[in-house]
Amino acid sequence: MVNALGDEVLQAAQALARGELIGLPTETVYGLAADALNPSAVNAIFQTKGRPANHPLIVHLADVSLVPVFASEVPAFAQRLMAAYWPGPLTLILKRHAGVADAAAGGHATIALRCPSHPMAQAVLHATLSLGVQGVAAPSANVFGSVSPTTAAHVRESFPELLVLDGGACDVGIESTIVDCSRDAPVLLRPGMLSVSQLSEACGVSVLSPASHAVGSGLQVSGAVRAVTPAAPGTLASHYAPRARVRLMTIEQMRAHLHNAKLPLATWTRTSLLRVEQNALPEGVKQFTMPSDAAPCAHDLFAQLRAMDALGVQEIWIETPPDGEAWAGVRDRLQRAAA
Ligand code: TXA
Ligand code: MG
Repeated sequence: MVNALGDEVLQAAQALARGELIGLPTETVYGLAADALNPSAVNAIFQTKGRPANHPLIVHLADVSLVPVFASEVPAFAQRLMAAYWPGPLTLILKRHAGVADAAAGGHATIALRCPSHPMAQAVLHATLSLGVQGVAAPSANVFGSVSPTTAAHVRESFPELLVLDGGACDVGIESTIVDCSRDAPVLLRPGMLSVSQLSEACGVSVLSPASHAVGSGLQVSGAVRAVTPAAPGTLASHYAPRARVRLMTIEQMRAHLHNAKLPLATWTRTSLLRVEQNALPEGVKQFTMPSDAAPCAHDLFAQLRAMDALGVQEIWIETPPDGEAWAGVRDRLQRAAA
């Protein structure tokens, strides 16, 4: 696979092995990657991203055989999750061996592990493994708090000096689903494109979900779940935010508020109700079409937010996504962008 993907993969792997940072495509979003077991390389991630050093990073692995390098305990339900969804857009939080990957773990007693499916990520991880790098730490390759990158060009906008591998537009488009497997039962920490029902079915145990992520799957969620959930930057109320103010509204609310809107304005809607009113539209309103299914919507979401923001609009109005667990990941990112 390394040969098929060429010299740039090898160059990226060698850079990682030297302790340098690279921009790494994955199927979810692009990562700002470094050797997870090299503390100065990991510190460079925190500095470059402007991220507080106590906010832990996800370690990316070539395959499941590397889990025991980092994790001290892997419950049966976690093994079943890995068997079902690795490689893929799923991150597991596991108890960590003391003294291993301290910097990447940000001082937490646990470690976040993920095996990405993007062919270029796989090629880089296998090539770095053959150079002795057992795991690659990578947060999303954006400045802390802003919109995650889903193309190589997005990464270069934030980090012009960085060596970025171009793996095309990310298939999934939003970050991996995170499940905390360091306790007696699995807990959803960050919704993504894998749903609680899919995960529960795969691991044979109900995956608990904090109330804000509850998706009508009949799960009993206690307030205690929220209390035990560790603080994580991806779970801060305001995250993934563009410069323009983002507002979530129904089409009816958009029509009602249009006459006193702050212009220029961009709208992103599934239904084209605004277009019916074309004649009545103020000149500074630019309309974009949101896909009607969750997966293509997730695929477009961050690129669309960036594109609308680049127009220099004052506000971005987005049609409230539908209920239902297929939309949980998109809803979560939009609510944070609007917070
Ligand atoms: O799809 C993804 O997961 C992307 C690609 C690059 O793999 N990565 C990503 O990383 O989204 P980042 O750093 O932007 O988000 C990682 C999330 C953060 O919310 C972080 O707090 C949480 O994972 N996290 C990492 N280690 C953790 C731990 N030990 N306990 C709880 N949360 C953890
Ligand atoms: Mg991020």
